[in-house]
Amino acid sequence: MDFAAELKRHVASVAHGLDLHLPPATTRPTRLHTAMRYSLEAGGKRLRPVLVLATAELFGHGSSDPLPAAVAIECVHTYSLIHDDLPCMDNDDLRRGRPTAHKQFDEATALLAGDALLTHAFGLLAERYAAQPALAHALIRELADAAGSRRLVGGQMEDLLAEKKADATPDELEFIHLNKTAAMIEAALVLGGLVGGADPRHLATLRRAGRHLGLAFQIIDDILDATADTATLGKTAGKDAQADKTTFVKLYGIEASHRIAAEHTAAALGAFRELPGDPTFLHALVQNMAVRGK
Ligand code: IPE
Ligand code: IPE
Ligand code: MG
Ligand code: MG
Ligand code: MG
Repeated sequence: MDFAAELKRHVASVAHGLDLHLPPATTRPTRLHTAMRYSLEAGGKRLRPVLVLATAELFGHGSSDPLPAAVAIECVHTYSLIHDDLPCMDNDDLRRGRPTAHKQFDEATALLAGDALLTHAFGLLAERYAAQPALAHALIRELADAAGSRRLVGGQMEDLLAEKKADATPDELEFIHLNKTAAMIEAALVLGGLVGGADPRHLATLRRAGRHLGLAFQIIDDILDATADTATLGKTAGKDAQADKTTFVKLYGIEASHRIAAEHTAAALGAFRELPGDPTFLHALVQNMAVRGK
């Protein structure tokens, strides 16, 4: 398998899907639809939608098209980044190598573009999987759980509450990372599994893989914030230390963070080995993500 070519194929599908499944920028109000596309089309690694597509392929994906599910999760992810960057949250000026939405437009437009992307994701699932009501229901429920107040939004809340905290505990740190980040990675794998027709046992394995992969991913994001430069990241480096965030780097240091991330990566790879189909691409993707922080 040519990993680079496979990744390119999936990323190209995502780009096509985003264009197909988002309202045109010319839709009234054009300022809002332009802002939605501005943040989405800035790029990014497309990790979550690629995980949806690759996981659906692993199970053969039967008669259903995984692309709307991939687009839906990228819409939720991008909304979470737009809001994460707002002055009242992490106050970032740069995202995906471009000025953040509130810098390019204004705060209200950024807020509304995020709201619209979040809502669009659920509309897309309801509409595009209408012919398979049980699948539509399962996808909507999965994404709603992952994006909701107990998971993504809850993780974001605790992330903010844990700023400048001298006595943050490992449990608080794990809650933040499991929810602000791992929830959506877990959901990406489960959405792919649902579209592909995975059975409950395999869905549970996907969930376990996603939990480890998500933790590894956010630990590496913490390491990169402390060690990489702004040009490489496409977002401002050193922001976590500046805001005194509760991160793996703060609690454990860089070296131990590398070790813990490697343990979670190994656990994710182990879980993928329990799945049917050819896991070569997913294995390579996980390994690729793991070396990002080195
Ligand atoms: C950024 O996610 C937010 C985190 C959960 C660390 P990504 O690193 O996947 O951002 P993009 O989508 O590639 O821009
Ligand atoms: C953000 O975590 C997670 C979400 C957007 C839900 P971070 O605040 O660490 O993400 P970056 O570093 O700004 O991408
Ligand atoms: Mg944040
Ligand atoms: Mg941030
Ligand atoms: Mg970060």
